[in-house]
Amino acid sequence: MLSHLLHLAGIESIILECRSRQYIEDRVRAGVLEQGTVDLMIETGVGERLQREGLRHDGVWFSFGGRRRRIHLSELTGGRAITVYAQQEVVKDLVQARLDAGGQIVFDVEDLTVRDLDSTRPKIRYRKDGDAHELVCDFIAGCDGFHGICRPTVPDGVITAYERVYPFAWLGILAEAAPTSEELIYTYNQRGFALFSMRSPQVTRLYLQCAPDEDLAEWPDDRVWEELCARMRTEDGWAPAVGPVFQKGVTGMRSFVIEPMQFGRLFLAGDAAHIVPPTGAKGLNLAISDVLTLTRGLEAFYKSGRQDLLDQYSATCLRRIWKVQRFSWWMTSMLHLFPGDDGFDHRRQLAELDYFTSSRAGMSSLAENYVGLPLD
Ligand code: DHB
Repeated sequence: MLSHLLHLAGIESIILECRSRQYIEDRVRAGVLEQGTVDLMIETGVGERLQREGLRHDGVWFSFGGRRRRIHLSELTGGRAITVYAQQEVVKDLVQARLDAGGQIVFDVEDLTVRDLDSTRPKIRYRKDGDAHELVCDFIAGCDGFHGICRPTVPDGVITAYERVYPFAWLGILAEAAPTSEELIYTYNQRGFALFSMRSPQVTRLYLQCAPDEDLAEWPDDRVWEELCARMRTEDGWAPAVGPVFQKGVTGMRSFVIEPMQFGRLFLAGDAAHIVPPTGAKGLNLAISDVLTLTRGLEAFYKSGRQDLLDQYSATCLRRIWKVQRFSWWMTSMLHLFPGDDGFDHRRQLAELDYFTSSRAGMSSLAENYVGLPLD
């Protein structure tokens, strides 16, 4: 998305990707786009398939105590909503758009290193098909994820990290089963959290709270379905439809933020700079807001020689990031079973769910954050 936005601003960029095109286009991740992400894709000409295949949801459900309550997102937010469209579909659309516009993406690069970050000519060295290459750049954007090489390259003492690790994870499946609800359902249950989502009119996406070191070998499909149904079945008999499972994985949970997100001419964006726990589906959307802010800074630099927006990159991004961190932490805290709870948390969580699904003020706050805070 950064490369696409820079291209539209007349700024040349090269993407170096250590994986293959097929790998990044097949990798299963989350699938909920905020309204601002959808609008940005449409406005910048990469929203055609999203508009055709994306599933717009005007509401979201919360299930607890055997009953469900709906939050009417668009009614509470002046017409805003979320759209279900898998992250790898976003990746496919953006890769295609860059290649169609003559953009350069080098896949399968190896041994990538960055250097001279505090000079005006930072450099990237890498190998492709065994040959060594060096790129001399104006700027480097570290969009290489939590385990990427860019963040660790910043000298000690520059960056402070803030972190929370949660005592649970999510076991997620994709199943060939027609979704039995048109909208997402977040379930709080004494057996643990569960989430009903979807990818298409034929594919259901489901998650359940599990241990952080959960062994997938102990979760044959039958056990997964049994547990999902036990957690999600409501008093009126609603339950997810069961079908063949074709993907299964465990997602860890952490909150992580670094400050600042810049060192010299290296700008970190997305998971390289922050991780949110998945509850609320904010990860991709937060990465999009970072690169939009970076594009504005680079545009001001090239068009009018202004450095100020780039200097404020970190502070501008962090203002939004911390609000989204708060929301993701809060959704996680409200909906998961905490090991060692003596009953206090359970009662506090039920009261919180009751309040935020019945008070107009509570529902408005939840909806405003869920559809996405404004992009700067
Ligand atoms: C999905 C993932 C999330 O983390 C979430 O909060 C909602 C939906 C999903 O993958 O569909």
